[in-house]
Amino acid sequence: MSGHEHPLTDEEAAAVFEPPAWEERYSGEETLWSGDPNPQLVAEASGLTPGTALDVGCGEGGDVIWLAGQGWTVTGADFSANGLARAARHAEQAGVGDRTDWWQVDARAFAAGGRSYDLVTTHYLHPPDGGMVEVAGRLAEAVALGGHLLIVGHAPSDAFTHLTAGHRRAMFLAEDLLPGLPDGLEALVVEQRPRTVTRDGVTVDIHDSTLLVRRTK
Ligand SMILES: C[S@@+](CC[C@H](N)C(=O)[O-])C[C@H]1O[C@@H](n2cnc3c(N)ncnc32)[C@H](O)[C@@H]1O
Repeated sequence: MSGHEHPLTDEEAAAVFEPPAWEERYSGEETLWSGDPNPQLVAEASGLTPGTALDVGCGEGGDVIWLAGQGWTVTGADFSANGLARAARHAEQAGVGDRTDWWQVDARAFAAGGRSYDLVTTHYLHPPDGGMVEVAGRLAEAVALGGHLLIVGHAPSDAFTHLTAGHRRAMFLAEDLLPGLPDGLEALVVEQRPRTVTRDGVTVDIHDSTLLVRRTK
């Protein structure tokens, strides 16, 4: 997400959430993300027995590569072909290409289609206008019995006033997602976790909305 110097038209504001905008962002040479695994993933997945995992909105593959290195067999999913190509390249370079595969899919239309995973995870995927509630339900359908769903996003806060109103509306609290979940899931973590980031050399306190649920039936 990035700031804008002039107010966006409604059409421009809606376009930032769509595949062409992300294809454009991933079209250059420079990487957008650090390549390090996200801290809430490390905190929660480190205690799980490795099995199969799905990372939706995987971007350049930092979390996929970390999970694969921990012994998971991982599918990285994203709606950006350029993002997935970068992720696949990074996975090969990291020596985990044989533990990873890739799925181009829009999370808003995600359908498990009979596939199930021991861990379904997504970090900083922010579909517009509260869309993450429905996405949470769709992703939950892909969780195997005894498996986990971990959803992490930005909690709305004054730390994001440099972003567009649409971006801020797309952020969510962990508890906002609960109504989207089907039966048969036990909530293990529903909270906003503090985290400090450095933006343009300035330290900023933010919160990660963190939802961890387990399929019990
Ligand atoms: C903010 S980046 C986060 C990338 C990665 N999860 C991380 O934490 O570094 C969001 C990613 O989600 C993808 N994305 C955004 N909306 C999506 C959607 N509706 N379906 C699938 N992927 C989406 C983008 O292409 C991008 O790679």
